[in-house]
Amino acid sequence: MAGLILEHVTKLFNDRSRGEVAAVRDATFDVKDGEFVVFLGPSGCGKTTSLRMIAGLETQTSGNIFIGERLVNRLPARARDIAMVFQDYALYPHMSVRDNLSFGLRNLHVPTKQIDREVDRVAEMLQIDALLNRKPRELSGGQRQRVALGRAIVRAPQVFLFDEPLSNLDAKLRVQMRVELLELHGKLSTTTIYVTHDQVEAMTLGQRIVALNHGVIPQIAPPARIYDHPNNMFVAQFIGSPPMNLAFGRLEAANVFAGEGFTIRLAPAFAAQHSQWLGRELYLGIRPEDIRKVRSGETPDVQTTAKVMEYLGSEAIAYFSLGKETWTARLAPDTRVQPREQLDLACDFKRAAFFDPQTQQRITP
Ligand SMILES: Nc1ncnc2c1ncn2[C@@H]1O[C@H](COP(=O)(O)OP(=O)(O)OP(=O)(O)O)[C@@H](O)[C@H]1O
Ligand SMILES: [Mg+2]
Repeated sequence: MAGLILEHVTKLFNDRSRGEVAAVRDATFDVKDGEFVVFLGPSGCGKTTSLRMIAGLETQTSGNIFIGERLVNRLPARARDIAMVFQDYALYPHMSVRDNLSFGLRNLHVPTKQIDREVDRVAEMLQIDALLNRKPRELSGGQRQRVALGRAIVRAPQVFLFDEPLSNLDAKLRVQMRVELLELHGKLSTTTIYVTHDQVEAMTLGQRIVALNHGVIPQIAPPARIYDHPNNMFVAQFIGSPPMNLAFGRLEAANVFAGEGFTIRLAPAFAAQHSQWLGRELYLGIRPEDIRKVRSGETPDVQTTAKVMEYLGSEAIAYFSLGKETWTARLAPDTRVQPREQLDLACDFKRAAFFDPQTQQRITP
């Protein structure tokens, strides 16, 4: 097995209509030997391009890529010992599922008996054992995706690169496959990069998350850290469902943050940490689960009115106005609030953050 390192990797594409497009800009990070890292970001942020450069299917415009100790800038894809599961599966259409799964091992001249054993084991795990004699065109999208996964797993490479490998599965199968992938990694500890735009997948699978936005990496951190301490507004709003609430306003007094049509009373400890920003315009961020209804006799931090309630069984999400913004609070499942009813809320500022409106970066006291 091997870890990998990207050093100042940039990929520029020449696009006829848009001119030069920087799909990835100055990416520097490492994936440790045996680590499971998730690339998380919206469509077009450079996830597939990053994987393709690591796999050797695309050449970076500048920068270095190391796999293990080896600089692989000029090493062709087939010599990198990487298995990539493509976003669009890329199965061999004329081959049966069994042949698709065994192709890599046959190329390595592994004995037939061993290939059959491996293929059967992986097919069972992925629940495609009944489909082994079919051709890809006779499969559903989700089944094809599992064949593509199986083809990578059977090969037991140094590095797995997974490009949204569960995107076509139904919700239940997706959760099941997520658990399978975690178990697989627990057993094999193969160095893995897993691309997704699904923050739940990122939070549950990744030992670390590499956030990507417009080809730039705003933060690399373990899931809990990235959730509790987002470095910038993009990360704050991309991770979490509902996302972190943000409001633009001014720190008007030591413990008063106010904007157009709203006022929030800050906790003394949080206010004290940020006293040097008095008078400054900022974004304040608070997670929905850090907002609750006041207990009787308690002074509210925010007074507002409810817009909509969503009852989800395990929790109730309250949508409410905060000036021009709509904020959410994650409340107890038995909370009953009518639309337009007054909401007196208390906030926990342990995880709250201020962000700079110019740079979008978190302001650390
Ligand atoms: N061959 C190419 N020529 C020109 N531009 C390209 C090419 N490949 C990718 N791009 C551009 O590079 C950017 C990143 O694309 P990429 O496919 O890496 O995004 P992604 O994060 O994988 O998105 P998605 O989640 O939609 O798969 C996009 O703006 C895309 O249009
Ligand atoms: Mg992609």
